[in-house]
Order: sequence, then structure tokens, then C-alpha cells
Amino acid sequence: MGVGPFRPYERLVQIKILGKPFEVPEKNMLLRCFQYLSPETIPYGRFCWNQECQTCRVAYQMPGGQEAPRQVLSCKIIVAEGMEITELSTELTWNLKKALALEKS
Ligand code: FES
Repeated sequence: MGVGPFRPYERLVQIKILGKPFEVPEKNMLLRCFQYLSPETIPYGRFCWNQECQTCRVAYQMPGGQEAPRQVLSCKIIVAEGMEITELSTELTWNLKKALALEKS
């Protein structure tokens, strides 16, 4: 399968974003996966998609990892099964708040 902006993928992988589970296309960069979850906001966010603006920064850990979360650019890293995103940049939080139901009630 290869649809629209996404790199060809055959299956979805499970990740967690701020503790909530989501399924996103394998073999795609994380920012693209965020676009998959929120196609109506991410393409219009202030993202350079080119590892320059830094507004796509996240922190993540792998499951069971003993190490501290790593800071990465989501337009640089390819998604991996089980990835746990523990922090989102302000721009990502704003763009994903609806898709992730992050709004505080
Ligand atoms: S989108 Fe600009 S650095 Fe990732």
C-alpha cells in the first residue's frame, strides 16, 4: 500500500503518544505518521519537513527501555513498533490536540 504522501507500507505499527495507543503506517517518518493521525492539521502546521525548523521535536522511549527519553526531530526518525512518544513540541501539541483528544476538559 502506498497512499498519497506516505511511503509504501504493508501494515500499521502500534505506538503510544503521551500514553495513548495509536496505529500508524510502518516505514514512514514520525512526522508523516502524525499526519496520518491528523491529515487536516499537520500539512498546514509550521513544519519545514527538512530538519531545520526544530518545531517537530519530540521525546521518545522504546518499551521497557531503562534509558531516559531521547529528543529527536520527528521529520528525521522513522517510526518503530512500540515507540512511546513522551513529549511533543508546542507546535505538534497544537496540531495534534484534536486527533489525540489532548484537550483538557
Ligand atoms: S519539521 Fe522542521 S525540523 Fe522537523
